[in-house]
Amino acid sequence: MNPKALYTITYGLYVVCSKKEGRFNGQVANTVFQITSEPPTVAVSINKNNLTHEFIKESRLFTVSVLEQEAPLSLIGQFGFKSGREADKFAGVQYGLSQNGVPYLTAHALSFLEAEVVQEVGAGTHTIFIGRLTDAGILKEGAPMTYAYYHQVKKGVVPKTAPTYVAKQEEKPAPQEAKYACEVCGYVYDTAAGDPAHGVAPGTPFEQLPADWVCPVCGAGKEQFRKEN
Ligand SMILES: Cc1cc2nc3c(=O)[nH]c(=O)nc-3n(C[C@H](O)[C@H](O)[C@H](O)COP(=O)(O)O)c2cc1C
Repeated sequence: MNPKALYTITYGLYVVCSKKEGRFNGQVANTVFQITSEPPTVAVSINKNNLTHEFIKESRLFTVSVLEQEAPLSLIGQFGFKSGREADKFAGVQYGLSQNGVPYLTAHALSFLEAEVVQEVGAGTHTIFIGRLTDAGILKEGAPMTYAYYHQVKKGVVPKTAPTYVAKQEEKPAPQEAKYACEVCGYVYDTAAGDPAHGVAPGTPFEQLPADWVCPVCGAGKEQFRKEN
């Protein structure tokens, strides 16, 4: 069996939100897909440890915000690497409310869906929530972010709670291609690629990054990075 076959599956990138007792939360998910058109039904796979899981279980509602290709890594860091148990993820974030009062992102999202859970399937570490569409809207035109674009162009990473997480293989980069991994989220600063989103040119050694440079995914400082060898 060659598990690399799994890498050829394509996905989009979404923020799935829910609510509980007047509180809002949301998380990044790539595992959103439409199941049937009549009635319109979607599904998402959510880790049982996530706060969003708790909220969906409680309210039986979730929204899906379809991220645009230009969505910044910091937004994915905010919703994909932090738990709502530690911080209010909606602080400073622009959002609207769907038909049943569930938040969805209005910045960096092309559209939103709201669904009411009609079935859930336990799948080991995750629950697959199947939801019937109760609201939907287009927010702007543009290209949706794909999982492949997030990895290949944005150089994004995934946490262990993502269903598609794969443990890193041992790899020895050449010295001129030194890589530094963020101990908080796993993002890797690749000297060869630099950090174009923050104006850092390809080939810039990690040591020459400004002191106030932060991880483009989770916002951790330089001191949280360790050299990979
Ligand atoms: C690119 C990417 C894809 C992800 N896909 C999923 C997913 O499909 N399902 C899931 O449960 N977690 C996924 N995650 C992880 C959650 O977003 C992450 O665990 C989040 O911090 C949970 O937040 P919460 O505890 O506030 O709900 C993904 C993260 C990233 C960065």
